[in-house]
Amino acid sequence: MSRKITEKVTWVGKIDWELKKFHGNELSTHRGSSYNSYLIRDKKTVLIDTVWKPFADEFVRNLKKEIDLNEIDYIVINHGEIDHSGALVELMREIPDTPIYCTANAVKSLKGHYHHDWNFVEVKTGDTLDIGESKLIFIEARMLHWPDSMFTYMTGENILFSNDAFGQHYASEQLFNDQVKQDELYYEAMKYYANILTPFSGFVTKKIKEVMDMGLPIDIICTSHGIIWRDNPLQIVNKYLEWADNYQENQITIIYDTMWNGTRRMAEAIAEGIRSSDDAVVVKLYNASKYDKNDIITEVFKSKAVLVGSPTINRGISFSISGILEMIKGLGFKNKKAAAFGAYGWSGEGVKVINEELKDAGFEVIDDGLRALWNPDEQALQQCGEFGQRFVRSL
Ligand SMILES: [Fe+2]
Ligand SMILES: [Fe+2]
Repeated sequence: MSRKITEKVTWVGKIDWELKKFHGNELSTHRGSSYNSYLIRDKKTVLIDTVWKPFADEFVRNLKKEIDLNEIDYIVINHGEIDHSGALVELMREIPDTPIYCTANAVKSLKGHYHHDWNFVEVKTGDTLDIGESKLIFIEARMLHWPDSMFTYMTGENILFSNDAFGQHYASEQLFNDQVKQDELYYEAMKYYANILTPFSGFVTKKIKEVMDMGLPIDIICTSHGIIWRDNPLQIVNKYLEWADNYQENQITIIYDTMWNGTRRMAEAIAEGIRSSDDAVVVKLYNASKYDKNDIITEVFKSKAVLVGSPTINRGISFSISGILEMIKGLGFKNKKAAAFGAYGWSGEGVKVINEELKDAGFEVIDDGLRALWNPDEQALQQCGEFGQRFVRSL
């Protein structure tokens, strides 16, 4: 059902409480999500973005209750990804000639996904569209987070339609940031940034500065996922500037996998060593085969250093550690330190493999790492404690 945001702007999206996985299985969404679409009614009527494909029928049906589709003068597609453009095919079947305002890259992604030659109008940063009292200003936002992404700003109402930027996978029947639990909201906003936007942090900083320099007053940020920022909307912009600037807290995250508990016992002894040497630093332990990968990534995002442990398996490392290291590498974290550890039975290559992966991922490996033969005895556990102490002191 639709909800009023301001006199002229109505939310016409879909709240998806059932969503548990997104981007295939790449991203967990424990709190569901929403696909936010907005209808602007000025002298002209504009639809901003649509919803994910499975909800296309429902979206068009609901939109028809709100407005005669033929009254829609313009469609703005800020980003071609399926979660926002997925209802276009259904919608364009009804209003095939309606112009679609989007970036040149979005024409490519939309054609690439749907293979329709719709009435595209390519826009660039600074292009405007008069819709009556208000005007829309388009701002390309390349690589935030696709080459086709853009923001749309509405004058008069001072709304920034930011699409994926500043969003959260967070289903809520309350639409606004001041109506929800702040710890939940910020956990989801950070998880979203850590898992999706980390590789584009340089673009985030540049784009925010560019928008600030345009001097546009921002009263509301209408995201494409999760809640809308209306109470002090710049709080999330400032958070993004912080997160984009090699963010870290006083935290060390120990990620490990274990077959017969040898590497787990090492991890625990290392944690104990760290704590005995520095009890202010937050130490968290995650068995990568048991915890959600995207929650672990969020913890890595917050950490100043990580310790990664795996038993040696077939001269390599475990499936879950290999997977999490691949994710870490892709995200391109900066300014973080690391070391490796692991138990082994005979050949013992695990630590070496992890060290190489960590270096490849851009971490500063500050220790050669620690291995324990078979299941660690008291002496080996003592070495683990000392390893932890040495590690935290050298940060
Ligand atoms: Fe996206
Ligand atoms: Fe999205």
